[in-house]
Amino acid sequence: MNFENILLEELEPGIFLLTINRPKVFNALNQATVAEIKRARDLLDANPQARVLLLTGAGSKAFAAGADIKEMHNMSGIQGRDFSQEGLKVFRSLETLPIPVIAVVNGYCLGGGCELAMSCDWIIASENAFFGQPEVNLGVTPGFGGTQRLPRLIGRGRTMELTMTGRQISAEEAKDWGLVNHVYQQGELMEKALETARDIIKKGPVALELTKDTILRGQDMDLDNACALESKAFGLTFSTEDQKEGMSAFLEKRSAKFHGK
Ligand code: CAA
Repeated sequence: MNFENILLEELEPGIFLLTINRPKVFNALNQATVAEIKRARDLLDANPQARVLLLTGAGSKAFAAGADIKEMHNMSGIQGRDFSQEGLKVFRSLETLPIPVIAVVNGYCLGGGCELAMSCDWIIASENAFFGQPEVNLGVTPGFGGTQRLPRLIGRGRTMELTMTGRQISAEEAKDWGLVNHVYQQGELMEKALETARDIIKKGPVALELTKDTILRGQDMDLDNACALESKAFGLTFSTEDQKEGMSAFLEKRSAKFHGK
């Protein structure tokens, strides 16, 4: 896998790690990095062995400190719009990758970095992580989904505050606000992420995929339609061998062995 700005590795069977690898610039997201994230995402989508993706930043300082300011500095309005549209498209494709994706936030998680983390299924963070949407300090708005995903996660008032003050919040405060699920000491962050990934790959892949899809599609629907979607997903699982295996294993008091069909 030939990348310049990211690393993609299989840590253990089925568990992949994508690392934004520009530590000298706090893993700032330039156009090439965004394109490589898309390429990695597509590789995983095409790989039936891929079961969980962990996403992190290289080094001990940053997950990603935002879109690359040096690269954006002289962009025209049209170039800015195109960069935003590309980022939005790539992050949405990451969000809808049919396997669980966990953001493992190991430092600054700002602007486009925070928007990248929010495109994952959930976020875990180290104690030294900081979150924020500081675009207003640069005279721009968030451009990779911050004005839309943040209010869905932490509510309107808190989003208004973060985006209008540019204030950074600590990992603990981000957890308090519902942006982060768990906070760990920096040295144990990746091991905790791996523990979770190892647990997830024991579950039925079809059930995981349908659960994720139903949550993502349902959150922007009215409740009746969203619940109808859920019952269809539930029904569909009964056509799988995994459902028979999962329920038989429970009744026979043994561990289930799922095969994703
Ligand atoms: N783009 C480009 N380079 C960046 C960067 C970014 N977003 N963030 C950090 N860097 C670079 C710095 O320029 C610096 O490089 P040099 O050593 O070559 O000077 C290096 O990373 C280290 O940064 P600092 O010296 O500033 O380190 P610090 O510890 O003093 O501060 C920081 C760390 C608070 C993260 C600070 O770097 C910072 O505020 N970064 C910018 C954060 C930001 O504004 N992000 C939003 C970007 S806009 C955006 O993301 C739009 C969107 O929604 C799509």
